Amino acid sequence: MDKRGENMFDLKGKTALVTGSSQGIGKEIAKTLRDAGAKVFVHGQNFSEKLDLAAKYVGTDSIVEADLFESGVADKLFAQTGGVDILVLNASIQIKKPWGEFSEEEFDRHINCNLKSSYFIIKKYINYMKQKGWGRIVTIGSTNQYNNHPELAIYGVTKAAQMKLVQNIAPYIAPYGITINNIAPGAIETPRNDKALADKEFRDKVVASIPAGYIGNAGDMNGAVLLLCSNEGRYITGSEIIADGGMHL
Ligand SMILES: NC(=O)c1ccc[n+]([C@@H]2O[C@H](COP(=O)([O-])OP(=O)(O)OC[C@H]3O[C@@H](n4cnc5c(N)ncnc54)[C@H](OP(=O)(O)O)[C@@H]3O)[C@@H](O)[C@H]2O)c1
Repeated sequence: MDKRGENMFDLKGKTALVTGSSQGIGKEIAKTLRDAGAKVFVHGQNFSEKLDLAAKYVGTDSIVEADLFESGVADKLFAQTGGVDILVLNASIQIKKPWGEFSEEEFDRHINCNLKSSYFIIKKYINYMKQKGWGRIVTIGSTNQYNNHPELAIYGVTKAAQMKLVQNIAPYIAPYGITINNIAPGAIETPRNDKALADKEFRDKVVASIPAGYIGNAGDMNGAVLLLCSNEGRYITGSEIIADGGMHL
């Protein structure tokens, strides 16, 4: 609550789409936006029981599907949601391999799912936000924008490029009351990496690389998301919050 007794992060009356909210970080972000009062669309690659369960957890019955690899994904999503006030581009893919071993198909899959889809979804959704004179766009990046990882060369490139996209777009949409920012998580325990982190030796190595001394959980982006998606974040754009327990340092 602020000094006027209002909830500073109130999102009542807003609509939001969170891509990749069937599990992990996206599911927690969707719940946070819902708890703050927004009507939230949860999204997965396909309709599934997992997505239904995520929607139940979030507290919404607005469920949409679209494979970010496919062309026309922005139109497909928009046809299901219509315009939204808040767009959180969280879904991504990550294929781990030594830098020289990626196939053309794997390279394209990274580019389409983690970068190209972000551009076309933003482009599709921006007019509605412009008409309303208010909008919030948050991309989810990674500390791999900065760190070199022996098996994440292409993934890191897509996340760094997405940040550049955020910076390139921000000045042109700021006059319409629309902000765009990136949140870069560090090592976060989600279904993506639960198998890898179950290996004690690997887990200990990861923990040792985090100044805070522990691996984050899927809810550790929620505070940053609320700030960037609410009126309190209106003066923050083209910027980034790194939420990684100091790992990038
Ligand atoms: N976990 C970490 O340590 C970490 C660290 C840094 C950055 N990040 C970033 O944070 C975000 C969330 O990570 P996470 O660990 O929560 O991911 P996750 O558990 O792997 O979940 C990925 C989500 O993206 C969706 N998705 C995957 N491929 C898709 C496709 N082709 N089309 C549409 N949706 C697709 C999945 O939907 P389905 O379930 O339908 O497949 C799922 O909802 C990602 O951008 C990731 O790069 C994560």
